[in-house]
Amino acid sequence: MYTITLLPGDGIGPEVIAGAVHVLQAVQEQHTGVRFVLREAPFGGSACDQTGTPLPEETLQLCLSGDAVLLGAVGGPKWDSLPVHLRPEVGALLPLRKHLEVFANLRPSVIFPALADASTLKREVVEGLDVMVVRELTGGIYFGTKHRETLPDGGVKVVETLEYTTAEIVRVARVAFDLARQRRGKLTSVDKANVLESSRLWREVVSEMAGEYPDVELNHMLVDNCAMQLVRYPKQFDVLLTENMFGDILSDQASQLTGSIGMLPSASLGGKVGLYEPIHGSAPDIAGQDVANPIATILSVAMMLRFSFNLPEAANSVERAVSRVLEEGYRTADIMQPGMRQVGTKEMAELIGVRL
Ligand code: NAI
Ligand code: MG
Repeated sequence: MYTITLLPGDGIGPEVIAGAVHVLQAVQEQHTGVRFVLREAPFGGSACDQTGTPLPEETLQLCLSGDAVLLGAVGGPKWDSLPVHLRPEVGALLPLRKHLEVFANLRPSVIFPALADASTLKREVVEGLDVMVVRELTGGIYFGTKHRETLPDGGVKVVETLEYTTAEIVRVARVAFDLARQRRGKLTSVDKANVLESSRLWREVVSEMAGEYPDVELNHMLVDNCAMQLVRYPKQFDVLLTENMFGDILSDQASQLTGSIGMLPSASLGGKVGLYEPIHGSAPDIAGQDVANPIATILSVAMMLRFSFNLPEAANSVERAVSRVLEEGYRTADIMQPGMRQVGTKEMAELIGVRL
């Protein structure tokens, strides 16, 4: 029995989570002995409306006491003007990651064969692409100290600090080395070691760990070059390891190679409870219209089955079902192509569910 805390959140969050729940129920029917207990909690802007805070204490306790968390998305224009600590991203998402101690964020950029023409890049550049970005998630400049002061001349000075310790680098690098070992044996560690002291430490620590992984081929790449290589020849990469802010930017870039942000899942690991979420936001422009692509969230469920519940067969079956539905020509609006059949959020989830 696995207990999953559902945080639908805002915008399209509730719609894509409903699609994922449909698939979880189908997994339960197909795999004897597998049972999910689902409980839902308020989170994000809608939680702030209901309770006055975007991360209510009861929600946090539910998340900490379950086996995994499945999150939709948070935020939207309605909450943009709130004081910073009440804003869904800063007041809910960052503290949730910190409390769960999920220091390793895994974002796979995979091209489904049926979508090789859906990318903005040429088919030959992206066809067969399978890159895993491992982003450090609970350290670095996003969690550093922030300082703002007005200067005597009336100007403003801000200071943000970037800190990393050896231990923080080792634990996330280990996740990346282990993944590379299970995949194609190649790890690219991305930093800015020509300029930043934190990157020099990053490079030293990762290089030293390579001795424990003789079967993994390690190379180092500067972040600006990596950004260029990702659009030039992305298939050179297997696992990409990087710190928090570089990873934020590079993983969005890598995601776009696959055609739509609506396709890409993520897993955040490291603590007792894994956090799973699509990489997209709350998409207020399409919320409530049954047009959002639920596949990113459904593939996040597959990652949950694999990483938190050790059910690789069930995870594979979800991924195969997604692939089949795409091969059969079903598309949500964001990945629609000529001659294909357009379906809504709910129907897409149902089509995947019956193919498990
Ligand atoms: P977004 O990811 O919500 O939307 C970007 C574009 O992609 C929009 O045109 C949207 O319609 C489209 N899109 C996103 N997900 C889709 C899906 N599943 N199917 C089809 N189309 C999809 O990013 P945006 O517009 O920058 O942010 C909107 C709100 O979401 C903001 O309040 C932002 O802060 C928040 N946000 C929340 C995140 C989270 O909860 N993890 C992550 C990113 C943004
Ligand atoms: Mg981002």
